[in-house]
Amino acid sequence: MTKEETMTKSGEEVNESSKKRPAVTPITSEGDMPQKKFYRQRAHCNPLSHNDAFEYPRTPQDMDWTEEHYPEPPAGNSLQPTVLDIGCGFGGLTIALATLLPKETVLGMEIRAKVTEYVRLRILASRKENPGSFQNCSVMRTNSMKFLPHYFKPHSLSKIFFCFPDPHFKRKNHGRRIVSERLLSEYAHFLKIGGRLYCITDVKELHDWHVEKCNAHPLFRRLDDEQVFKEDPCVHAMSVETEESKKVERNKGSKHYAVYERIDDSEAPSLDAESFFD
Ligand SMILES: C[S@@+](CC[C@H](N)C(=O)[O-])C[C@H]1O[C@@H](n2cnc3c(N)ncnc32)[C@H](O)[C@@H]1O
Repeated sequence: MTKEETMTKSGEEVNESSKKRPAVTPITSEGDMPQKKFYRQRAHCNPLSHNDAFEYPRTPQDMDWTEEHYPEPPAGNSLQPTVLDIGCGFGGLTIALATLLPKETVLGMEIRAKVTEYVRLRILASRKENPGSFQNCSVMRTNSMKFLPHYFKPHSLSKIFFCFPDPHFKRKNHGRRIVSERLLSEYAHFLKIGGRLYCITDVKELHDWHVEKCNAHPLFRRLDDEQVFKEDPCVHAMSVETEESKKVERNKGSKHYAVYERIDDSEAPSLDAESFFD
């Protein structure tokens, strides 16, 4: 190491000219609450051309959730996730659901590495500050548009949340949207009968897209907005607990939600070849 060089907390070498800048990723010790400002990352990514080599199990049976995700699961809880917060961002809802749904096993899924790390540290710190709590929530970095079948068994999930997903406005990018005909069939495959799919966004055009795609899917039935808001505390939680929902609130924007129930296959309208290919 020359005189001009010094070490950051993370052990990386930096030279004098870059010394005044804060370290790119300060270390947060496990158990300490991370600071969000150090874990910000470019907002949008292309989920279809995300080249990072994600590791994933060959089959859901090969996945051990207890080691890394739920080391001290609450008695009686499933040892595998039953509730997904897809595209969880900084994890506000994932954390809130852990308390709201103590009998469920909650998993936030996030594609951005730094953001996932923030949520992981946030959960560890919350567990440390509140012994015995938050053992039923975790976060995982993955591309949920590609790898869900490697993690989840059919009909194993009771709820899936899509909160303020990236809108991908341009028509040519609509294929990147996380709610689509193809992916809805996947979500239906993993949801239990009677399980729920929740969508919320501040972009009216995207809300209309959600409603159009979900209404058209034979395995989902829309629940009445007002009634579900009254009866299901998750609807209020997703409107106020996510970081994006707070931002929308501050900017006095509007929020649009829709909640769907996974119906039994026998209740689905029958599809003939003609309507299927419409
Ligand atoms: C606009 S943010 C909303 C975050 C959070 N739900 C909230 O309401 O605060 C959308 C999030 O989805 C994540 N995301 C986008 N595509 C994804 C994918 N294919 N798999 C997992 N996460 C994804 C993004 O990285 C981003 O954090």
